[in-house]
Amino acid sequence: MLDIIWDQTYSVNIAEIDLQHQKIAVLLDVLFEAVEQNRSVSILAEIIQELIAYAEYHFETEENLMRRYQFPEYIEHKKEHDDFRKKVLQFQEDLHKKKETLASDLIKLMTHWLSDHVMNLDKKYGPFLNAKGVF
Ligand SMILES: [Fe+2]
Ligand SMILES: [Fe+2]
Repeated sequence: MLDIIWDQTYSVNIAEIDLQHQKIAVLLDVLFEAVEQNRSVSILAEIIQELIAYAEYHFETEENLMRRYQFPEYIEHKKEHDDFRKKVLQFQEDLHKKKETLASDLIKLMTHWLSDHVMNLDKKYGPFLNAKGVF
């Protein structure tokens, strides 16, 4: 088990977003277990594909909300999403070369993102959107 345990300190006070962050944590844990169990590169690639697709869906959810309500820090926030998108694409391309290290690196990157990005950036739109009636 990865030690990403969801608790209220991660909440951005918007139900849909909290659920999505939890789902990403679960997918990360699935990937971590697969690496631990030394699964084949095709299995790892499958989980990574699902994780990336879900992260993309999540980013779009956040970006749509921020745009719809004209969140003032949208550009800065979107830039951080875009940097992350680029990094993850690179991982996907390199996966077939050296699977264990890369899958572990991806877990590190995403675990860091989940705590750091959520705590520092996602939490900023929480009160803003709450004030517009979004919960
Ligand atoms: Fe997020
Ligand atoms: Fe975000």
